[in-house]
Amino acid sequence: MNDLQELSTFSHEINNSLTLIYGQIQCIEKTYDTLTGNDHWNRMKDDFSSLFDFIHQFLAPAEESSAAMEPLDLISVISEIRSSWSYYLHKEQIRFFIQADPGTAFYVYGARSKLFQLFHNLISNAVKAIQQKKETCRSPHITHITVHLSKEQGHIVLNLSDTGIGMTTEQQSRAFYRGVSFHPGGNGIGLSVVQNIARDLHIKIHIDSAPNQGTTFTLIFPAYEQQLSCPTRTEALTK
Ligand SMILES: Nc1ncnc2c1ncn2[C@@H]1O[C@H](COP(=O)(O)OP(=O)(O)OP(=O)(O)O)[C@@H](O)[C@H]1O
Ligand SMILES: [Mg+2]
Repeated sequence: MNDLQELSTFSHEINNSLTLIYGQIQCIEKTYDTLTGNDHWNRMKDDFSSLFDFIHQFLAPAEESSAAMEPLDLISVISEIRSSWSYYLHKEQIRFFIQADPGTAFYVYGARSKLFQLFHNLISNAVKAIQQKKETCRSPHITHITVHLSKEQGHIVLNLSDTGIGMTTEQQSRAFYRGVSFHPGGNGIGLSVVQNIARDLHIKIHIDSAPNQGTTFTLIFPAYEQQLSCPTRTEALTK
């Protein structure tokens, strides 16, 4: 069997198991109907659906597998992802800020599942980096993840910063290579996935990091001409 076939078999089996688990979830929901009013429960179901979508895309024939492109509000995307991570953020006492100019829309054109995958990987790394810093430096320190959005010459610039363990210059130069990991138990896959998605969606990405100071990933999205026709957001977004 070649690699692609093995991966398809693997995805297929995961899909089968997920289908069974989803059946149990539905049974539980029928038994405890108050669950439908629980935010964590609903979030978990949404995350489950995203995982299903992702696997279905992978299993679909090549000509059908390109994920649907649509205008997406980055603030909504990041807010949803923050909700998905709320359990771990709370457990690790990490505060997650979203900063953006009030009254500015941050629409990009992309595939929802791909953008979610990209941000989940970056946030997973940020959480791990903060955990690592906690383990190595015993004294209390700030544990923040911040997403800052701005516009520069028609491009949306997103900075995702963490106050984690950081990376040396040498580590930064190799971090995107598949199979390269600098922490115990890491597979070194996440950032290569991020890089592939960024390439497909024409997002420029770069790292700025310093050991024990933290890391910032900067993502520059291509200009989206139809931004003006999208609704604007007026509420202050810094939380
Ligand atoms: N925000 C970050 N802060 C510090 N180091 C980071 C950060 N993001 C990535 N790295 C470093 O880059 C390495 C590669 O990241 P990548 O996501 O590819 O792999 P991983 O997290 O080790 O494993 P996987 O994502 O496959 O579970 C990590 O092992 C980590 O050392
Ligand atoms: Mg990772």
